[in-house]
Parts: sequence; structure tokens; C-alpha cells
Amino acid sequence: MTALQTLLRGSGSASVRAAVVASRVSRPHAASRRCFSVSPRALSSFYPNWEPNGPTVKTEIPGPKSRDIIADLDKVVDTRSLNMLTDYTKSSGNYIADPDGNVLLDVYAQIASIPLGYNNPVLRKAAATDDMISGIINRPAIGNFPPHDWAETLRSGILKAAPKGLNQVFTAMAGSDANETAYKAAFMWRRQRDRGGPDVDFTPEELSSAMENKAPGSAPLSILSFRTGFHGRLFGTLSTTRSKPIHKIDIPAFDWPQATFPQLKYPLDQHAAENAAAEQAALQEVDHLIATHPQPVCAVVVEPVQSEGGDNHASPAFFRGLRELTKQRGVLLIVDEVQTGVGATGRFWAHEHWDLPSPPDMVTFSKKAQAAGYYYADPALRPNKPYRQFNTWMGDPVRALLFRAIVDEVERLDLVRHTAKVGEYLYGRLEELAKRYPGEFQNLRGKGMGTFIAFDNPRRDEFLRKAKTLGLNIGGCGESAVRLRPMLVFEEKHADILVEVMEKIVKSW
Ligand SMILES: Cc1ncc(COP(=O)(O)O)c(C=O)c1O
Repeated sequence: MTALQTLLRGSGSASVRAAVVASRVSRPHAASRRCFSVSPRALSSFYPNWEPNGPTVKTEIPGPKSRDIIADLDKVVDTRSLNMLTDYTKSSGNYIADPDGNVLLDVYAQIASIPLGYNNPVLRKAAATDDMISGIINRPAIGNFPPHDWAETLRSGILKAAPKGLNQVFTAMAGSDANETAYKAAFMWRRQRDRGGPDVDFTPEELSSAMENKAPGSAPLSILSFRTGFHGRLFGTLSTTRSKPIHKIDIPAFDWPQATFPQLKYPLDQHAAENAAAEQAALQEVDHLIATHPQPVCAVVVEPVQSEGGDNHASPAFFRGLRELTKQRGVLLIVDEVQTGVGATGRFWAHEHWDLPSPPDMVTFSKKAQAAGYYYADPALRPNKPYRQFNTWMGDPVRALLFRAIVDEVERLDLVRHTAKVGEYLYGRLEELAKRYPGEFQNLRGKGMGTFIAFDNPRRDEFLRKAKTLGLNIGGCGESAVRLRPMLVFEEKHADILVEVMEKIVKSW
């Protein structure tokens, strides 16, 4: 253990030790204060004096101050999607704060995108460097004017974290952008292959028809995605997103194929044969669609766990089958790790759980990486001419530097292994809860997948609302799933608070 590790991981200062006696939630309109029993594990916090000992609820949420601010905000932006007005200056670690003094344990983490906790001291330091300041005020158009040390920044950060077998990256700005550009790379790759290689030029007909948005220049090709999958909301990605109609309605879409994602039954060990058959059927459907869809399929895009669509899992065998099948059919496999990537499943990349015989062709990332883009290895995935895959910013050096600091911190604190371990503990506690309240914690899923755990609740939206009143910020997905997306600094002591609040919710009705 380095000196810094000892300092940051040690049992903490006396004040921390004294403080970690009990976690408290004070609720509005309640005479008594809620006390959580906290195990001795509470002393093993990653950073001393960093986060509170537990949630505090002082008002209803939104409280009076928040309501005033929201009313003002609504005059200039549409606030209907607002979940909780947040005071980021007061949020710390696993806890999110609001202007009314409420502090909630946050297992939603900005839609699964905060890796190391709010106001992480090491990231704050990384944010205050000259490199970072230069990146902020001299934001480069990376494709045209890359910083002189860009290769080094990538190699020591984004590429240091690259999935096995992938050694190149195209940097983008968000999850949708990462997927959208990966699809474009797939289309250009396919047409280049069909034309006979990178040196075969476009025909005059291709060039002129492209300007009319017509074939053959605008190639009638497709990306295959899965029912209930989510890949973003830009034009191309939205055509592969199949989670909810409200995301898609009124927007022109490509006529691209979708296959059934296996719908596994739980508990897995009681439905092994049925589930294997569902996965086999899904693979056959993919194969059939690739063989028959009128717009040739260039790539299959898949999430390791369908997240927005309801936390739907499939087995490693299914994904190995998909890899094999796409290889046989000469179709690319794009693994969308926008939500699953960066440690939350107990592996840095969720597809490491699959033991693939050969890597995916592209892996897209964003969210907890803060940076975004797609990894690849095959040089043929670089288009044959410059400016075919291009935009002004092409990512952001600031985010690349931040991801580098995140990767270093994840490594230093061994946070992937930590998350696998805490996930195991949390899953065990949820299993107990599900035994006691089977109707409230249905289809518990995510065993062995770190803290990437979910269950279905028949009154899901009420469950999420009630959680806030008890000091917990938690998210849903799909029709009825409650999804857990804690940060990588989530510990067993936080799991204890989470489980206690969830039990309280279901006991309350
Ligand atoms: C798996 C997956 N892909 C893509 C996206 C889109 O990312 P963004 O919202 O950053 O565009 C999301 C967002 O939730 C996602 O979960």
C-alpha cells in the first residue's frame, strides 16, 4: 500500500470514526428520527471526512426552496423531466444534496454516470491542473488541431482502459454520439469491403445519388438491434432504440430490423432449460434477419445488460453465440457499454464476463467514463478518406483527462474488485428481502454482476417516490424495474442503508 493509499484508505481521522456511529434520517412531519444501525465496516471509507454518515431528510422533496427555484427555472427551460433539484456544492461521495438541506443516498448517480462519488477529492485535484485548464479554455477541434500530447493522453487514459484486443479509439461526446459514429464506421467499412477495398474509388453515380439522399450513394444498409434495447436518441441511434414509444414518436426512422432479446425467467436455476431455449430462439431470429432483411445488416448492436429497457440480462453463452454468428455472417458486433462500462458489473467492461473467443468489433462507452467514443482494432474501420468520420470537437480533452484520473483511481483503490464484492453482499441481502417480500422484489437479477442489480416492483413509480421521502435517490427502468446504479465507491455500509430503506418502503403499504 502506498503512503497515499494508507492516508486515504486508513481507518480515518478521529472525527470520521466518531462520526460513523449511526446514520440518521429525519423525516418531514415525523416526530421521531430514523436511526440506521451501521456495521463496523463503516470505518473503511475511501476518503476521510468526505461524505455524511447517512441521509438526512428535512423537508418534503422538492421542498419550499427547491419549489421556488424550479418555478423560476421553468420560466426559461422545460422542467418536466426534473427529478430532483441538486446542490452539487453540498453533494459528496454517495450522497446527493438539494437546496432545502436534504441529503439522499444516491444509487442512481446521474443516470449511472458518476463513477467515484460527488466531489471526489482526487478528481477535484485532477480538475485543477494546468492541462485541464488549458483544455477548458482552449477547446480544440481535435480532428484538425489535436493537442501535441493527445496520443499520450489517450494511451495513459482512454486506451489504458481499452477492452482486451481493441487498441484504437474514436472519441465522441456522449453515448448516442458514440453509437451513432460507430454505426457510420460500420456502414463505411461494409461499403468499402463490397467495393473491393480502400483504394477503389466511389463512382460518379454514388457521389451524385448521395447528394439526393438516394441509393446507391446513400447506402440502403441497416444495423440490427434488439427489442427493448436502448442506444440513444440521435437519428441513427433512435432507429436502433426500442425501449419506449415516447422516445421515438414523430421522428422519422430507418426501416431496420429488430430481434427479440431473450426474456429470461427468474430464478435462473429453476428455468435453465426454458431460458436456454429462449436464447437459442433469439440467436436463430438474429441469423434469420441477417439472412433475409432487405437492407443488408452491417452490424448487430447489443447492450451487455439492456438497461433503459428494464435491466434485461442474457447469459454469456448467448453473447458468445452472437459473436460466433456475426463472425460467420460477416457482420460486425458492436457492444454498447455506455451504461455497463467502467466497473459497475464487477468487471471493468461487462463483456469481460462472456469469455469471448474474439473481441467485439467495436465497444462504445460514455457515462461513467465521462469521455465517450468507440474502441476498435481493425484498421479497415478507419474510413478510406479523411473527413468521412469527423465533427468539430470529436470528443473533449478535458473529459479524456478526467477519464484518465478516473482510471487511475479505480486502479489505485481496486474499485472493480471492490464493486464485485459489495455487489455480492448486496445481492445476498436483497435475496433475503425477496424471500420475505416476494411480491415486492420480483425477478431479482444481476447475481455476480457487481452492483448492477435490479428487480421488478408492481408499484414501481410509487416505490421510487417513497424512497426519496426516506432519504434514498433510486431510479427505475423499463415498465416495472427498480435499477440499482450506485457508484464504484458504494460500500457495504451504504448497502445496509439501502436495504433498510427498501424494506421500510414495502412495509409502509
Ligand atoms: C446503453 C446506452 N446506450 C446509449 C445511451 C445514450 O447515451 P446518451 O444519453 O449519453 O446519449 C444510453 C443512455 O442511457 C445507454 O444507456
